[in-house]
Amino acid sequence: MSSAATTSGSASRWGPLWGARARDWAAVEEQQAPTYEEGLRRAGLERGQSVLDVGCGTGVFLALAAARGARVHGVDASEDLVALARERVPGADVRVGEMEALPFGDDSFDVVTGFNSFFFADDMAAALGEAARVSKPGAPVVLQVWGDPERCDLEAMKRAVAPFMPASPPGAPAPPELWRPGVLEEVAAAAGLRPERAFDLTWAFEFADDDHLARALLAPGGIVRAVDLAGEDAVRAAIVEAMAPYRTPGGGYLLRNEWHYLLARA
Ligand SMILES: C[S@@+](CC[C@H](N)C(=O)[O-])C[C@H]1O[C@@H](n2cnc3c(N)ncnc32)[C@H](O)[C@@H]1O
Repeated sequence: MSSAATTSGSASRWGPLWGARARDWAAVEEQQAPTYEEGLRRAGLERGQSVLDVGCGTGVFLALAAARGARVHGVDASEDLVALARERVPGADVRVGEMEALPFGDDSFDVVTGFNSFFFADDMAAALGEAARVSKPGAPVVLQVWGDPERCDLEAMKRAVAPFMPASPPGAPAPPELWRPGVLEEVAAAAGLRPERAFDLTWAFEFADDDHLARALLAPGGIVRAVDLAGEDAVRAAIVEAMAPYRTPGGGYLLRNEWHYLLARA
């Protein structure tokens, strides 16, 4: 196990935000196993191969890959999430670091993955270029982003917190719609990856009650930022109200979300 303790750029901004509610985020990540299983299946990860997960969070993907006999490596901006990943996967090589300047050598990995992570980079093409650099030639690189907003119940959470966030500077470009056919392919190709196949997966988060919902949805780094600006009570109330359409008769919540993937080659 080793650690590059320095972060820079977008990692230094996002790390403390993602680490602020690390245990609550760990529980969210545990529900995301279907996303990771699909990534493993599509990458065709084999026993003994080395895999790097970029933006590995608390290491749920790393644990699943290790259970398949892979040699697992992770990098994340958050020291707190990296600590939980090391706890979850003892002996794994999990480092605090910047995805735009990965702390690994060229041609190191048989498989590289990034689940809901690459779009946090200030320069996503630079981060994907790094994924290409550290992959062995021809290695699968699995990129996963949010799916079509029309099929993402969690978009309601984003809409609920938007009023608490600072307005974008005038003239700032809208974020790319990475779920649209061809968009992620274009960013990946510009970074030197060879897009192979795009696909989508849908599954549902389940939360037992308001408290469980609020703990989970207050944990992502972007929401922590809203809480810092507007206070927990206001953000919590807005999120619980926005999620009312997804309440089940038993008082729990079921949130279906689509996830968009690109399998590319280094
Ligand atoms: C949405 S979470 C994804 C975590 C996990 N992969 C998952 O599937 O849920 C985004 C992760 O990216 C990390 N992150 C954000 N910016 C980063 C950067 N510039 N370099 C490295 N990690 C970064 C955050 O700390 C966080 O753990």
